[in-house]
Amino acid sequence: MKFLLLLLSLLLSASVNAQEPSQAAIATAHPLATQAGKRILQSGGNAFDAAVAITATLAVVEPYSSGLGGGGFWLLRDQKQHKTIMLDGREMAPGKAHRDMYLDQDGNYIAKSSVDGPLAAGIPGTVAAMVHLSEKYGNLPLQQVLQSAIKYAEKGFPVTSHYQKMAAFRLSVLQRYKSSADIFLHNNEVPESGHLIVQKDLAQTLKLIAQKGNAGFYQGNIANKLVDSVKANAGIWHLNDLKNYTIKEREPVQFHYRHMKITSAAPPSSGGIALATMLQILQNYELKSLDDVTQTHLIIEAMRRAYRDRAEFLGDSDFTNVPTERLTHAWYADGLQKGIRLDKAMPSSDLPEIGANLKTKIVNSQTEGQDTTHFSVLDTQGNLVSATMSINYPFGSGFTAAGTGVLLNDEMDDFSARPGTPNVYGLVGAEANAIAPGKRPLSSMSPTLVETDKGIAILGTPGGSRIITMVLLGILELEKGAAAQQWVTRPRFHHQYLPDKVFYEKNAFSMEQAAELELMGHHTSQLDSGYGNMQVINWDYVNGVQAASDPRVEGQAVVFDVP
Ligand code: GLY
Repeated sequence: MKFLLLLLSLLLSASVNAQEPSQAAIATAHPLATQAGKRILQSGGNAFDAAVAITATLAVVEPYSSGLGGGGFWLLRDQKQHKTIMLDGREMAPGKAHRDMYLDQDGNYIAKSSVDGPLAAGIPGTVAAMVHLSEKYGNLPLQQVLQSAIKYAEKGFPVTSHYQKMAAFRLSVLQRYKSSADIFLHNNEVPESGHLIVQKDLAQTLKLIAQKGNAGFYQGNIANKLVDSVKANAGIWHLNDLKNYTIKEREPVQFHYRHMKITSAAPPSSGGIALATMLQILQNYELKSLDDVTQTHLIIEAMRRAYRDRAEFLGDSDFTNVPTERLTHAWYADGLQKGIRLDKAMPSSDLPEIGANLKTKIVNSQTEGQDTTHFSVLDTQGNLVSATMSINYPFGSGFTAAGTGVLLNDEMDDFSARPGTPNVYGLVGAEANAIAPGKRPLSSMSPTLVETDKGIAILGTPGGSRIITMVLLGILELEKGAAAQQWVTRPRFHHQYLPDKVFYEKNAFSMEQAAELELMGHHTSQLDSGYGNMQVINWDYVNGVQAASDPRVEGQAVVFDVP
């Protein structure tokens, strides 16, 4: 009897803990954004209010990563309604976009045409996502929630070494557009450390959004200025494109991996589907019983197959028939696994052909992994948000619409501009991701939740095509029972089918391990610097809340009491 009572009380306390954590937590890529979110949670806001405050603040203080001119995916868990949804604020191709818009008369891709300048920009979704999140899920007025972002835009924020690195990478395109150079450069050069980036026009735009919601951005004065400025610089936006932008609530991808329930982004992201493929291939092995090199080999083979399918099948599911159910089913992964040898790599060219005449491009850039941004939030009611947002390449298209402060994305490059030809991340795609008006480009952004009977983890990272494999490696650390800090710190490696190469951070393999992988037939390439910027929270129902921010960049993770 005593035992039964004890068991009952343990079960009860576990279920109470599973409803409400004793502390809140935030992890973002910038300390000012983390603090903005914390202020909101401490002023009576919930995780959704904090998410809006963080989204807006990151738009100001990380202009190279995300912004009002971009989009993203916000994965929400509404504890009261027992609801998990994916808010799709991905950019939409403008009405005048067409399949061959980046090709010359001979059908060749016009260099940089989908990367630099306003022709590269999709219709942004971030503002619509913030307004939707605030109106439907938040507790506080939007005006209050946007205060920090408005303050940092008005008063400025100091340039850091990371800002300098990003600005140096995109210097020539920022210099090309005076509207950008005046804000993001100093005397037309990369600003010195500590220089304040003041964004008066952006502050005004944020104030209009605070007052009018969507109408402050997608219609009226700001919309007119956006369209006029884009058109004056050879872009193709129309006022109707802005007016017709729609936010979508989608069902996220959910699957089981061993004892874990994983929830991640659905199309137009490839993240959830690719994670399902990789993890369900790997669950056929007792990884920890194998030596390190064999484990790595198997993980690479799983990556290769998931990215091959990404290239063939994935695109915006509102436009193309994405076989999500099949691709996320364990039997499908089991079938792929059967082609994997324990002792030998399979060249990507030996996997079934995709149909398009694929070209490869070696992408080994120092800035890969630094674009885009991720944050994780948990409030003391158990609501949570895992959000990954982007303007694509560092500083997006490099083009700021005059009089708005809005730096536009170059997310159109995430389409297959020419099916079979790689984008800036070396990713190839097929017809499923071809350009069409109103369509959303395929993304790798993978905001993710991992649930077990012990707790729930919130994770994600920027990093272009490498996002999904970083989240995979984070989940494998979590499975080992490692602390949250280890999920974000562990050295990383990546394979994306094409190019047929394993890119790896300095300490991911020893020289001997790299040599063994080469002997198995892998082509390894060590990167000169680290990549990724992972932000995680782990709510352990018994031991409490942990948060961690990737040590490679300059983020901040906090766990704190809410009065
Ligand atoms: N622009 C990066 C991504 O969406 O994957």
